[in-house]
Amino acid sequence: MEFKTDFLILGSGIAGLSLAIKASTLGSVAIVTKKEKSESNTNYAQGGIAAVTDQTDSFDEHIQDTLICGAGLCREDVVEFIVKEAPPRIKELIDWGVNFTKSETNPNLYDLGREGGHNRRRVLHAKDLTGHEIERALNEKVSHLKNVSIYENHIGIDLIIKREGSDKIGHCLGAYVLDINKSEIHTYRAKYTILCTGGAGKVYLITTNPDIATGDGLAMAYRAGAQIANMEFIQFHPTCLYHPAAKAFLISEAVRGEGGILRLKNGSTFMEKYHPMNSLAPRDIVAKAIDTEIKQSGDEYVLLDITHRDRDFLINRFPNIYNKCLEYGIDITSQPIPVAPAAHYICGGVAVDHYGKTSIANLFACGEVSCTGLHGANRLASNSLLEAVVYSHRVYMEISRNINKIKHSDAFIAPWDPSGTTESDDSVVVTHNWDEIRRCMWNYVGIVRSDKRLERAARRIDLIQKEIDEYYWNFKVTKDLVELRNITTVAKLIVRSATLRKESRGLHYNIDYPDTRDEFKKDTIIVKE
Ligand code: SIN
Repeated sequence: MEFKTDFLILGSGIAGLSLAIKASTLGSVAIVTKKEKSESNTNYAQGGIAAVTDQTDSFDEHIQDTLICGAGLCREDVVEFIVKEAPPRIKELIDWGVNFTKSETNPNLYDLGREGGHNRRRVLHAKDLTGHEIERALNEKVSHLKNVSIYENHIGIDLIIKREGSDKIGHCLGAYVLDINKSEIHTYRAKYTILCTGGAGKVYLITTNPDIATGDGLAMAYRAGAQIANMEFIQFHPTCLYHPAAKAFLISEAVRGEGGILRLKNGSTFMEKYHPMNSLAPRDIVAKAIDTEIKQSGDEYVLLDITHRDRDFLINRFPNIYNKCLEYGIDITSQPIPVAPAAHYICGGVAVDHYGKTSIANLFACGEVSCTGLHGANRLASNSLLEAVVYSHRVYMEISRNINKIKHSDAFIAPWDPSGTTESDDSVVVTHNWDEIRRCMWNYVGIVRSDKRLERAARRIDLIQKEIDEYYWNFKVTKDLVELRNITTVAKLIVRSATLRKESRGLHYNIDYPDTRDEFKKDTIIVKE
């Protein structure tokens, strides 16, 4: 079947939903989302959204903190406009019904949290459930919009790109989409296609991300020939709950912002050896410090101790963390929390300009899937939700400038051809390869890298890629297979980018090149040959 829409938005996190609200004033919107509409990386964001809203704060300070974290690779013009465009976007979220937590002392002000790398309190939050609150409010708003259709349990397979004559890069006509429940593949034709598919934490064995984070938009854009930038910069969150039964539960950096202290199992502190900001140092430094200490001591985790704060304060400020830890038998008001680093965020992504345009005409990217230049070599905490709302507005501005000039292409789009493919009788291939990639990435392309480890990873991932390609074209397409193909592509992009950067900078640390080198003060760009 072929569906026609003005705007095809892939993904239903903060980027996709905020864009849908605005784009619906210009035309019809189809949102394609893999699970239920609220299941996104945004939904799991605890910390919040960084913005200058306090009179004693300044744009300059937020810009400086972002640039320092970014280790020389941020695009300064992008940092500046994102920071300065924050206040109207925050106001818009509030007008759409997002309830940020108010200050206890002055109900006219919002409570501001602090996180690693920020020199002051600047993070708006809804207790420790900020992403959940944003998704609630935006989904509620979208549910009243007649122009928006949401396709839940649908996953994009590939973008549809038309290349004519000398136009080698081509323009995007939409995407092939799998209806997961019905096992049917449909064509979605759109004037504009916008990737808002989030990140790819599932490329790693241990991650704070939900199961949906398989880099689908990134992989589709790469296969379509778009420029992909800076994939070596994978942010590992320093403090994921360490418990055998817990799957990917983040202990927000805001806990350290409220005084949480990192300790070894024997109770001694260690962060003073690594950075003057101690436990609140930028994330790359804290994650690497924990990794070093864990490797030296042979322990599997360190401790995050907030027991010196008042019990009622902790339960009120961190209800989600308090309750979740309690489920695992840890009372954070009286016991330190076992934590270890986990893959959290991809600073690189589909390269975009100041308005979210990718290198392919009519294809945009917004949110974690994109690389705008804001994060450079290391993202400042809580800057990502901000980037998503500022850029979704910029995408909207760009499409509203052009929507009257663009018509639906009448180019023929061949329907997806499922002939010759059969049901797989060997699903173990998918689960085995899935597991192997994630383990390989964790062991060889983690916080500390070396040329040898990267070579090993490249060899293994190449082999898996060949096997998947063969499998992919011989068997019926399923969600698991699409995701496996995507995490393999993303893993390959990370390894290739990491191999090209012969220095250490921000989140990329290679023991064979421990120093930062001026000749690498540039983006790593990869385009499919
Ligand atoms: C956190 O709450 O620690 C995560 C915030 C972020 O990743 O920006």
